Amino acid sequence: MASDPSSPDTPPELRVRPVRFWHGRKLVELEGLPPAFTVLEWLREEAGCHAAKEGCAEGDCGACTVAVTDLDGAGNPRVRAINACIQPVAALDGKLLATAGDIGEPDALHPVQTAMVTHHGSQCGFCTPGIVMSLYAMYEGRRLADDAAVGREDAVRALSGNLCRCTGYRPILDAAQAMCGPDWQGETADAMRERLVRVAPGPQAWTPGEAAGGFDGHARGRFLAPRTLAQLAALRATHPDSRIVAGATDVGLWVTKHHRALGDVLWIGGVSGLAAIDRIGRDALASSRWGRELPCLEIGAAVTVEDAWRALAPHFAACIDYFDRFASVPVRNSATLVGNVANGSPIGDTAPLLIALGGSVVLHRQGQERILPLTDFYHGYQKNDLRPGEFIRAVRVPLLGADVSVHAWKLSKRVEQDISAVAVATALRVERGRIVAAGVGVGGMAAVSSRAVRTEQALLGLRVDVPAATLRDSAGMRAAWQAMHDEFDPLDDLRANAAYRRQAAANLLLRSCLQLARQAPATRLGELAAIQP
Ligand code: FES
Ligand code: FES
Repeated sequence: MASDPSSPDTPPELRVRPVRFWHGRKLVELEGLPPAFTVLEWLREEAGCHAAKEGCAEGDCGACTVAVTDLDGAGNPRVRAINACIQPVAALDGKLLATAGDIGEPDALHPVQTAMVTHHGSQCGFCTPGIVMSLYAMYEGRRLADDAAVGREDAVRALSGNLCRCTGYRPILDAAQAMCGPDWQGETADAMRERLVRVAPGPQAWTPGEAAGGFDGHARGRFLAPRTLAQLAALRATHPDSRIVAGATDVGLWVTKHHRALGDVLWIGGVSGLAAIDRIGRDALASSRWGRELPCLEIGAAVTVEDAWRALAPHFAACIDYFDRFASVPVRNSATLVGNVANGSPIGDTAPLLIALGGSVVLHRQGQERILPLTDFYHGYQKNDLRPGEFIRAVRVPLLGADVSVHAWKLSKRVEQDISAVAVATALRVERGRIVAAGVGVGGMAAVSSRAVRTEQALLGLRVDVPAATLRDSAGMRAAWQAMHDEFDPLDDLRANAAYRRQAAANLLLRSCLQLARQAPATRLGELAAIQP
């Protein structure tokens, strides 16, 4: 009789041991923790460190920004800014943590702090520790890579997760550009590596143990930390009600904003096998959908959004602006691409693009796997195809080839760090001047991110090797525009009303098509004359 894959024969052995990490120069060991106890709570309430502030407690303002160092895939230290307010402190296991209070002394400031002082980058100072740490992470990245110049755009990007309500950003950006130079200051990569090795986790699944009490506002539960895929699968089977957490950028808000109890947390951030990005020679589902042999990138469930987008950017050059608008740098440094897909939000930024490309999810349960097109994974709002004991091991992103033009557009009230009102992604293959294959994914238009099948049909045969104005006014383009306008029945909500969403989605489709036209026009909002229904 086949064994039930949801019931492992051998439950995984869980070692109870402290969380181990470095705070500044101090080695810290913590045990008996609530699973959602955050880095910020630990810093301010336990460690007596007030150099990280609490503003929004949801990853939006950057007041809590700290720097975390670990080793990249090549074994080199990498320093990243993250939001301490939503990150479980247990996820620091094996890492180095630094706050603005750890990088300099009052009489010997760090170059980032000096630059902020000399360029008048602070007034009330509430945002300043977070801004300093976002800049510090960039400084360290440049220092360790021996890469000195910080351009204005680099600085703007690094500060995408930091709000300042009183200084104004010009002096802060000036400081960012002044902080690097020939007098780099900091620990050598070898010294960092040595410290990281001292706190490196072993191969055994572990937990810091359940809190005995004394953590106000925290419900009971354990932080379960598998180290291998097999351990994860077994823990998932033996703890089917556990909450899978990777970057905690969504789940963290359930705790800080909704005061929800998570129960046991199954943290996948330490599962080595899930941190990989692999190229697969043939993606069967995408090959079948596009009628040609296609490779794909398989992105593991512990790969951060930042790493995933970096790997995807060379293949999707026209989508780089879209990637940059996925939250802020600190959020992208914690959030995972798979987490964004698993979350199933109808306004998630990843799913529309994956759907347009014909992407899929790899579902794992006790050593058995099945692969589903992403469109089949979502059943409805907050409903998906996961079975008991199953989890998403990876997503597959098809690489469609140079003859397929891929674009993704996002409309939101803020450029950075905002949720989409509407997102549209298109993959259009052109032969002899006409669209012969189309993939269109949308967000914000239905209860789940969706494939626009009728619009894809309407695009087939559309002649695009004509001047932009001719394309815009062609009957075929108008038919495709109307198909997109009419295909969904979106909601009215605070971000946009239904009429706006319909028209915006159709105009974004037009924008994608205009990229293919001769003499393609500039495509900034306001420079396109939109079609009216
Ligand atoms: Fe606002 Fe953490 S307190 S991002
Ligand atoms: Fe006051 Fe930035 S200095 S919020």
